[in-house]
Amino acid sequence: MDYKKMVAETLAPALTDVLSAEEIYQKIERPKDTAKGDYAFPAFTLAKIFKKAPQQIAADLAEKIDASKFDKVEVAGPYLNFFLDKAAFSAEILGNVLTQGADYGQNQNGNGGNVPIDMSSPNIAKPISMGHLRSTVIGNSIAEILKKNGYKPIKDNHLGDWGTQFGKLITAYLKWGNEEDVKKDPISYLVQYYVKFHKEDVEHPELDDEAREWFKKLEDGDQQAHELWSWFRDESLKAFNAIYDKLGVKFDTYNGEAFYNDKMQAVIDELKDKGLLKESQGAQVVNLDKYDLNPALILKSDGASLYITRDIATAVYRENTYHPAMNLYVVGSEQMYYFKQLKAVLTEMGLPSAKDLHHIPFGLITVNGKKLSTRSGRIILLDEVLDDAIEMAQKQIAAKNPDLANKDQVAKQVGVGAIIFGDLKNERMNSIDFNLEEQLKFEGETGPYVQYAHARAESILRKASDVEVPTADAKISDPEAWDTIKALADFPDTVVEALKEFEPSDIAKYSIRLAKSFNKYYAHSKILADDAEKPARIALVKSVSTVLKESLRLLGVEAPDEM
Ligand code: ARG
Repeated sequence: MDYKKMVAETLAPALTDVLSAEEIYQKIERPKDTAKGDYAFPAFTLAKIFKKAPQQIAADLAEKIDASKFDKVEVAGPYLNFFLDKAAFSAEILGNVLTQGADYGQNQNGNGGNVPIDMSSPNIAKPISMGHLRSTVIGNSIAEILKKNGYKPIKDNHLGDWGTQFGKLITAYLKWGNEEDVKKDPISYLVQYYVKFHKEDVEHPELDDEAREWFKKLEDGDQQAHELWSWFRDESLKAFNAIYDKLGVKFDTYNGEAFYNDKMQAVIDELKDKGLLKESQGAQVVNLDKYDLNPALILKSDGASLYITRDIATAVYRENTYHPAMNLYVVGSEQMYYFKQLKAVLTEMGLPSAKDLHHIPFGLITVNGKKLSTRSGRIILLDEVLDDAIEMAQKQIAAKNPDLANKDQVAKQVGVGAIIFGDLKNERMNSIDFNLEEQLKFEGETGPYVQYAHARAESILRKASDVEVPTADAKISDPEAWDTIKALADFPDTVVEALKEFEPSDIAKYSIRLAKSFNKYYAHSKILADDAEKPARIALVKSVSTVLKESLRLLGVEAPDEM
């Protein structure tokens, strides 16, 4: 039931000649403070029309309307405040949650449309950066939010697995490399070779010629070159996958840049046919003056393709393969300008999905004040941050709940969950300094706090396992429960809102709100008391557990039943 509509319909007969039902609906507000009612109508907006004091207008309206569907309707200065019928409202909301279960909040707005999400996309033979991690975690959550809105997400890891750097890497490996080392610790050795190459080529510029030759061979399908490239790729992927596994993130496709090698010529031909390619100092560019952007360089003077050339081929491929409803790229904000150019080129080409191409950027993140970056060829490994978090969670659990059965599994869920949640609770464009200790606290706006509220709800349910949970008519009159019930009612709208701005933080903030209100309720009310409302209260607890778990799931965070 749309309660705002109910308020509008209640007011409509008293305002027939003045406002349409739609206009009334638009004016209705939702007071932040529940003491001011659940909905409020600002009567002062009618002062000009009625030529009366706003207080008087509010009082007149209160006289005229039929308020029988509400607990009460109050005049408060220039406002008319509506208080919903708590018992009826709770029965309806709890009924919805309990009959729909994890499907509560699901809508079909997306009509099953395909949405490729370009996410994570680290570069082969290089360490995965904090930016790639944010992209992984944000992209994964947006994929879940898309599904909840009736879309079909396709999570694509657009690996950086092509480019002249592979000529350098092959040259370096053949000179200084060793198979055992690469197998042992692929990323750090491959990075070392690459770093060494750049040191040596200062004095031995002939190395560059060699590298160019190897890249040419690679492009021409030379067997040795291809085998080495593919081995570097496999080893790097193994290292990346270990991190994805820990994070619990899966991809639908790993179509990296190399995947588009044989799809590029068609794109270049198309650009030529459409008269979009212009020569500029021997290179081929697309002019973007009309978009107030610099020209996009498509082919270098030696005919080599670039990052953007591969991205154009990617977009064309996605168009033809998926006929996407939207095209999403979760990539750091340093590529903002680049994605404007990409979108402009695709628009010039007349690619239908260029219209709904969205670059979803995000801010920088540091961990305990430190940038996660290359440190003399090594990095402060993401893996280590995750392991630290798990270890901290282990300690907390050992102190709080030493008898817990599956301690290690829960520690992993809590540790990893804390990292994911600590990232996603921030609006994505904000830069964050990530404090591991802060994010692992069971108090405050953290993942463990929300997980703990869920575990608490589950524990109550275990204690009340004899109660038959009603799915209809669960009427709760206790005012202490009101904030929780209203939070439950807001979940479906939050799912819609979060997608509008591609903002997982909406879901994270929502889960904190629901957890907080539930904890307050738990502290003030005797949920397990044996009285007539007990089954309704258990229905409330079960609804809270369901929606908390579902909110966390949308973020990619697990919800253990005990912790
Ligand atoms: N590999 C790139 C990087 O690490 C990110 C790729 C983003 N996706 C894309 N389609 N351009 O910067």
